[in-house]
Amino acid sequence: MESKRARLDRFLAKTLQIPRKQVRQLLLARRVAVDGACATDMDLQVDEFSLIALDEQPLQQQTPRYYMVHKPVGVVSATQDEQHATVLELLPPSLRAGLHIVGRLDLNTSGLVLLTNDSRWSAALMQPGAHVEKEYLVTLANPLTPEYAPAFAAGMYFGFEDITTAPAQLEIVSSHNARVLLTEGKYHQIKRMFGRFRNPVVALHRSRVGTLALDESLSPGQWRALEADEVVQASS
Ligand code: URA
Repeated sequence: MESKRARLDRFLAKTLQIPRKQVRQLLLARRVAVDGACATDMDLQVDEFSLIALDEQPLQQQTPRYYMVHKPVGVVSATQDEQHATVLELLPPSLRAGLHIVGRLDLNTSGLVLLTNDSRWSAALMQPGAHVEKEYLVTLANPLTPEYAPAFAAGMYFGFEDITTAPAQLEIVSSHNARVLLTEGKYHQIKRMFGRFRNPVVALHRSRVGTLALDESLSPGQWRALEADEVVQASS
C-alpha cells in the first residue's frame, strides 16, 4: 500500500482551492502549522495523518486505526471480491472505509490478518528489509522427517521467480504438525516449500506476525482493535 505523501504546498493548494502563489504567502506569513510546528517550507512532505492547521484551524484530521482479524478458511484476503466474503467484511461497515490489508493469506489459510488505514505502519511491517517474523502452524498429509528443518534453514530456490527463500525455521511438533517461522512472504511459500518433499499441506494457520500474536479469545471471523502499545511495539 502506497503512502499518500504529498508536498505541503500541493496539499494546501488543493485543499484550500487557491493558487500556489497564495500558498507561498500563507507559509511566509507563518500561518500554517504541521504537527504542531510552524511550517514555512513548501517542499515539506505531509501525509493523511499529518496534523495540518491554518490559523490554528485543522485542515485535516484522520485517526490511524489498527485491527487484528481471525481469518477463517474460505474468506479471501482482499477488500473486494465477487465470489467470496472478504476479511474487510468481517468488520462492521462503519469501520471499513480506508482500511487495507497488511500481509495476505491464501483463501484456505486461517489465522492472523492485520488491517489498518496507516500505510506508514504497514510499510514498516511488510517492507522486504523489515524481516518481521511470521509464525505458521502447519498440518501435513505425510509424516515429517529430520531432513525438513535443514532444508528450510538453507533456503530453497524457486526457478519461476528466480529467488532463493531466506532462512526459515521449522520445528517438528508431532508426526504431521510443524511450526514454521518465515521472515518473508513469497507466493504460496509454505505450501511450495513442503511441496519440495511432496508433502501436501492439509491445514495452514498464521498465529503471529512479529510481536503480534493472534488473540486466543478471537474465534474464526472475530476481530478486535489493537491496543496503542501493540501498535508501537509491532513496528519498532
Ligand atoms: N504460505 C502459504 O503457502 N500460504 C499462506 O497463506 C501463507 C504462507
